[in-house]
Amino acid sequence: MNNLMKKKNNQESSSPSSDSCLSKYKKVYDLSLENPEAFWAERAETLVSWARKWDEVLQGDFNRREVSWFSGGRLNVSSNCLDRHLEKGCRNQAALIWQGENDDEVKVYTYQMLLTETCRFANVLKDKGIKKGDCVSIYLPMIPELVIAMLACARIGAVHSVIFCGFSSTALKNRIKDCGSKVFVTADTVARGGRIIPLKPNADGPLDECQSIRNCIVVRRSEKEISMVPGRDSWWHEEMAREGIGRYCEPVEMDAGDTLFMLYTSGSTGKPKGVLHSCGGYLTYVLHTCRTVFHFSENDIHWCTADIGWITGHSYSVYGPLGAGATILIYEGLPLYPEPDRYWRIVEKFGVTVLYTAPAAIRALMHFGAGLAGRYDLSSLRFLGSVGEPINPGEWNWYFKEIGHSKLPVIDTWWQTETGGIMLAPLVHPELCGPGGCSRPLPGIDAAVFTESGRETVPGESGRLVIRKPWPGMLKAVLGDGGRVQKMYFSSYPGVYDTGDSARRSGENVFQITGRLDDVIIISGHRLGTAEIESVLTAHRSVAEAAVVGIADSLKGQKIYAFVTVGKNVEQTPGLLGELRQYVQETIGPIATHSTIQYVSALPKTRSGKIMRRLLRKIASNDFHHFGDISTLADPSVITDLIEGKKRSS
Ligand code: WT7
Repeated sequence: MNNLMKKKNNQESSSPSSDSCLSKYKKVYDLSLENPEAFWAERAETLVSWARKWDEVLQGDFNRREVSWFSGGRLNVSSNCLDRHLEKGCRNQAALIWQGENDDEVKVYTYQMLLTETCRFANVLKDKGIKKGDCVSIYLPMIPELVIAMLACARIGAVHSVIFCGFSSTALKNRIKDCGSKVFVTADTVARGGRIIPLKPNADGPLDECQSIRNCIVVRRSEKEISMVPGRDSWWHEEMAREGIGRYCEPVEMDAGDTLFMLYTSGSTGKPKGVLHSCGGYLTYVLHTCRTVFHFSENDIHWCTADIGWITGHSYSVYGPLGAGATILIYEGLPLYPEPDRYWRIVEKFGVTVLYTAPAAIRALMHFGAGLAGRYDLSSLRFLGSVGEPINPGEWNWYFKEIGHSKLPVIDTWWQTETGGIMLAPLVHPELCGPGGCSRPLPGIDAAVFTESGRETVPGESGRLVIRKPWPGMLKAVLGDGGRVQKMYFSSYPGVYDTGDSARRSGENVFQITGRLDDVIIISGHRLGTAEIESVLTAHRSVAEAAVVGIADSLKGQKIYAFVTVGKNVEQTPGLLGELRQYVQETIGPIATHSTIQYVSALPKTRSGKIMRRLLRKIASNDFHHFGDISTLADPSVITDLIEGKKRSS
């Protein structure tokens, strides 16, 4: 046991300094909940530049679910991320450092340059007829144009919808059709592990089907020939050249409650949902978290390794650090390419100060690159963060010892696409916190753990993690709602936001997250809904029904396990299983690789026709006992068939 862990065991009553840190936190925290409006008003005033101050901090509450923040307030998020730093004299400071997959490919944008490029692309979008409120879908790899396109949308009040490049055809089509975007921004290819992989061709089919798209703007990333549709498709560099340099684009003043962006995420049922975030509330909250958790300063080189196609990248590669005036680092390639020392090479090369990564990356680096970190000078690092899934003690200790040299504590942060920013983190003496420990709600966040019947749990008892009061970073809405916000987040307990995660809370308001309670799978830190995969499988001509669950995987955290029944006269051949695996990977994207598929003669259903997933989860994980109450199962004999099939396929 290291010293840090030893101290952890009696941390709450340890040294006077830890007491004072704890009491300081408690004081701020208690005040924030006693008078949330005063607390958030102070945060918004201090952290955000407003064109017009708000009339009311908070309108509505969770009981009515109509919540809006800072109404009457007006601002522009891109000018908060760019112009205001120039006004403070930071024009020559690096805003964005880009490391391409090849080591010698580096680009640096100062704040001035990033503003110039943002204005140019904003003007391109305006020329294409994009106005405030229009939606722009962005399907780009980790290249500077991705950040520029997002900021350009924010500048003119267009709503961006970034789609992760690990998604392809069907997943992409669903995400464009749903929001009716008018412009699509992509790249010809992506660099992946030394290969050049076509990207735009993934979008060609979906674009032909999505009538709303009038223009597709393509970044040239390689020399590869791709097909362009005349009149619809054009090259980014040609559009930018036409704009010239120096035509300033006036930021559009937005209402605090206007939408800044939408981002698709998976729930337990149905199609992925487009989560909408507001301009004023989101920016205030993200900047609050940057102050409280990362303590950004202008000298920081902040590297959040998450792809910008996910919320982590939106909040902590783009809006948070740029809003705070720090320097962001964007890396195009894979953690293990060309060698598993790549991350440490980058940290040393640029003097990264803040590293925010995911347990999935840590697992891969531990597994393939043990000992390599020691060859690099990592002394610039002052902060090690983790996000996306629970970090286990092995990963935590490796990160702490090998990368933090037993000096930098690992800050495990919990949050969700819907929360906009970090909600729980070890805020009090993180150096005393070990793996899984010390997560406290940020000031302003009224977190609790409830039993299924809605009673607050006693210390140590597991239950559902809930949030009892609105906070400015919370999702504004879900696109085309149809009652989904109510169903997804507020149906478990009246007037309380249900996170869908299970947790335990100690008497000292320290939280430990134990996992998802719904049908969401987290693969390498990426959230996928089982329903989306099931609808892909059932669209295959040979499949009748499908049920998907997540099973543990030592590298990816979780992977897909699917049970399928085939149609009449379809033979259950090994060849078909391979075809289905391939089909899932092609239609969802590379994120959905290495799935396991098992034939079954029937799925276990309750008498009311619901698939009993908990049973399937157990069988997929080789747990053939402890099925719990199966009295509602319509035909209990299916269990034997499922178990035998599982044994055969293992
Ligand atoms: C779900 C949200 C938060 C940005 C990245 C994922 C899981 C997230 C942790 C953590 C345990 C975590 C939860 C959550 N999760 N961070 N530190 N410890 N679990 O955002 O795609 O919306 O997924 O990720 O289950 O609900 P997301």
